Amino acid sequence: MTPEHVASPGGYAATRERSLSDREGFWLEAAEQVAWSTAPAQALEERAADDWSWFSGGELNVCANALDRHVEAGRGDQAAIIYDSAVTDSVRRLTYRQLRDRVARFAGVLRDQGVVAGDRVLVYCPMVPEAAVAMLACARIGAIHSVVFGGFAANELAVRIGDARPKVIVTSSGGIEPNRVVEYLPLVRRALEICDDAASGVQAVIVHNRAQVPGSAADYSGSTESIAWIDWLTAESEATPADPVPLAADHPLYILYTSGTTGSPKGIVRDSGGYTVALTWAMRHIFDVGPGETIFTASDVGWVVGHSFIVYGPLLAGATTVIYEGKPVGTPDPGAFWRVIDDYEAKVLFTAPTALRAIRREDPELSQLRTHDTSSLRALFVAGERMDPETWHWARDGLQVPVIDNWWQTETGWPICANPLGIEQLEMKPGSTAVPMPGFDVRILDGAGNDVTEPGVEGNIALKLPLPPGALLEVWGSRQRFIDSYLTAFPGYYATGDAGFFDDDGYLTVLGRTDDVINVAGHRLSTGSLEEVLTQHHAVAECAVIGVADPLKGQRAAGFITLKHGSLDAHEHVAADLVRLVREQIGPVASFRDVTIVERLPKTRSGKILRKTMRQIVDGESYTVPATIEDPAVIDALIAALSTTFSAPTTSVLTLPR
Ligand code: COA
Ligand code: AMP
Repeated sequence: MTPEHVASPGGYAATRERSLSDREGFWLEAAEQVAWSTAPAQALEERAADDWSWFSGGELNVCANALDRHVEAGRGDQAAIIYDSAVTDSVRRLTYRQLRDRVARFAGVLRDQGVVAGDRVLVYCPMVPEAAVAMLACARIGAIHSVVFGGFAANELAVRIGDARPKVIVTSSGGIEPNRVVEYLPLVRRALEICDDAASGVQAVIVHNRAQVPGSAADYSGSTESIAWIDWLTAESEATPADPVPLAADHPLYILYTSGTTGSPKGIVRDSGGYTVALTWAMRHIFDVGPGETIFTASDVGWVVGHSFIVYGPLLAGATTVIYEGKPVGTPDPGAFWRVIDDYEAKVLFTAPTALRAIRREDPELSQLRTHDTSSLRALFVAGERMDPETWHWARDGLQVPVIDNWWQTETGWPICANPLGIEQLEMKPGSTAVPMPGFDVRILDGAGNDVTEPGVEGNIALKLPLPPGALLEVWGSRQRFIDSYLTAFPGYYATGDAGFFDDDGYLTVLGRTDDVINVAGHRLSTGSLEEVLTQHHAVAECAVIGVADPLKGQRAAGFITLKHGSLDAHEHVAADLVRLVREQIGPVASFRDVTIVERLPKTRSGKILRKTMRQIVDGESYTVPATIEDPAVIDALIAALSTTFSAPTTSVLTLPR
């Protein structure tokens, strides 16, 4: 431990206790690590039980904190970003000075397009440094960025354009997947068409051209009447750099869409001040990464892990962040992560359990690990989905470093539970996500909202209000949707949508979602939106999508459908159509391949489909059939059919006997 860490006297327990009993003192002290144009006089402003904000009155610029501040402090020549592209076999380094200068010029490009503070800019980019440049450029001038993951299809992109109403879209000619090149421009064009070009409010599309992917701004110029297609590099070379502008602490920094229980994704709005303070605190006290150290977060900038721990967290900390374009396996082998750690002396690796399971499947003995020097590695952090104890032990024994499972959500922006390595390394318990982080008051509630937080008692995991700095400000466009989605189920608490329990030592085990959200390879998907796509097919009468256990991806989506009476379509064709439809409308990331055609879906007498029971049956868990079931024979038929046909992730088609 370096001396700065002793900012937490008394260790974890005392730190956490103080964060709840002396919120003002704790967070104002944390805020001192941030450069403010106007320092906040107070930490928490609570206007009502469901209405609060952090650091009111304070003004700052997140980009200045992430870049200018470090250049001014003499870190200008240190690498800010190391871009390692396994799919193009290239490496590029950007120092803090170079990154600041590029960001300032790109902020000038945005300003030249009329973008001002509060305007939205949608960023649809692969894992290239330009994605971070675009995000930080927005932050520099107060534009609100909304990054959309590259694995989403045009339709999902259109939904986000329609909701965020960006003035500018920043994109790239495309991404590179191991098995194909993904051209982004036709997807952007299609999304704009879906939104109706002129009505979309988009004024310009700025295109970063990649040599490996066809398509350029020039190819699309004139394809849209009211939208200019602009070449990034030309615009950047002509732009005047923009200085960072001071913004109120609660000025929105970004909108990040995430799946909810309905088909329409929720735009999670993050503030500027609270997020900067929280991430600065978390980098030091949870991840134990500081100036000059390297963190390799193998996620994607399109997810919250990417926002917080590829881009903002590491740069706020003055660290070096690795932007890795590639997969854990196959680009070219399961040693890719160990090579990156070796090449850049990474202190921390942060990834999703599914990536580790993929490596384990291909290299169970970790023979690739032995060909690299990973002695710089101090810890492996994992999040995004449940970390199974078997993979935990495999990683721990192989890497010989602490494996820190941390639990959080797009909404919270940083870990709710973790092992705070920068304060003290607590005992590790595989299967548990360790202990609540400062500021998070984690409770277990029963269905009626009673606080039943006792060791061993399972229930809904809720966070007592107010949420700490860094958590969501609201849902974009609708404060009411924020309240309805999160604060209404249990008054006085934020409902996480997860279930779990504490053990005797205050360690939390997260059991899974209590709603219709599923988690495929660490990607959060709504079964509701998948069902919406399936019901679009002319032959489909009814459908239910459930998340079933998958040995690699944790969960995968499985669709069960009934056909309309008289449908003459061959079952195989319907199944293939549905797989294609989901890929086209939601995107390849849904990894949707299981379709089962049944005569009837199990329902209650009131018509509710028994999704939970279906999932339990498919996963081979014990289950109780509700007494309200319409016809118990449907369940018997389902079991009989499933036991012989449902195993591997394939497009399976079966017909249940009546
Ligand atoms: N752009 C376009 N397509 C993408 C994409 C992107 N950014 N990311 C994934 N896809 C596509 C893949 O090419 C694949 O398409 P295919 O059906 O044609 O093969 C599909 O989406 C599913 O991708 P993925 O879930 O990545 O599965 P995979 O089988 O290719 O790889 C893993 C499996 C485990 C290696 C991979 O899921 C992985 O690395 N997961 C880590 C997840 C992660 O970082 N999550 C972030 C939360 S912390
Ligand atoms: P996302 O908002 O995409 O990050 O997804 C958040 C959800 O992923 C949580 O509500 C959990 O259901 C799940 N999740 C994230 N991290 C973990 C973890 N460490 N253990 C178990 N589930 C997790």
